[in-house]
Amino acid sequence: MENLQLDDRGGLRHLLAIEGLERAHLEKILDVAESFAVLPGRQVKKVPLLRGRIVTNLFFESSTRTRTTFELAAKLLSADVINFNVNVSATAKGETLLDTLRNLEAMHSDLFVVRHQHSGAAHFIAHHASPGVSVVNAGDGRHAHPTQALLDMFTIRRHKGDFTPLRVAIVGDIQHSRVARSQIMALNLLGVTEVRIIGPSTLLPAEARTLGVHLYHDLESGLEEVDVIIMLRLQRERMEGALLPSAHEYFQLYGLTEARLKRAKPDAIVMHPGPINRGVEIASEVADGPRSVILQQVSHGIAVRMAVMSLILGAHGDGDR
Ligand code: NCD
Repeated sequence: MENLQLDDRGGLRHLLAIEGLERAHLEKILDVAESFAVLPGRQVKKVPLLRGRIVTNLFFESSTRTRTTFELAAKLLSADVINFNVNVSATAKGETLLDTLRNLEAMHSDLFVVRHQHSGAAHFIAHHASPGVSVVNAGDGRHAHPTQALLDMFTIRRHKGDFTPLRVAIVGDIQHSRVARSQIMALNLLGVTEVRIIGPSTLLPAEARTLGVHLYHDLESGLEEVDVIIMLRLQRERMEGALLPSAHEYFQLYGLTEARLKRAKPDAIVMHPGPINRGVEIASEVADGPRSVILQQVSHGIAVRMAVMSLILGAHGDGDR
């Protein structure tokens, strides 16, 4: 796919994928997010950086965390937010994606946050967007989910500081996961020691070896000495045919329990992009336990999405788009 993401000065114009970005872009986003992460502790939580700008949430697929944290992030930046509800919109009446885009552009939206079931949809919208209109990909098919990967990197950096010595394991349904693809690219760009992907062969992508990861089919050996464990949900809505035994059998083989967690480093953190399926990929004792940072990931999503939107709309005050 062509790289539409950067403007002539190398700043962010759209955020569609981690692919095509440089390490410095990721670090800049994480640093700006750090400055926003202090806001919840203040009495006045809002900043006026996007006052007078319009952000449109364009969600063609269901979402809880991502849509609400984008909305909250835009509001904390003082933007006006439109939530375009596809189920009750003209899309349900047969309008094309391009016509929907043109209509929303006619309402002077500055930035579209797009989630779509088809890989490449955010890229398509960015390609057709008018000059001055930006797009942030909030998850397209099984392709990419860059803001999720960035909030995960933010969470890892807050707990571990430096990325370079880290071993990170991503466990479960990698094959259907846009989150895993974006995480693998981000972790490699930030220079971690090793990324492992762990799961049954039916759930690991055929092209895995070209992604710069080590493959494991056995959970216990894959967790040995890791600093960060990222669990993924079985994304059944994207599976074609039966790739799996029952949920119960899956848990027996790949569910993260307290006993299995002991294989990782004693200070390893446990992450999950959500929604979690208790008793399928993760035991409640781990999800709610002291090593879980799952709810911190959700909070960090607000600061990271504020950083992405303010950088794209050139509103971070340092002239750096
Ligand atoms: C993920 C998604 O939608 O890609 N969730 C999220 O955005 N927090 C992961 C998933 O659906 O399992």
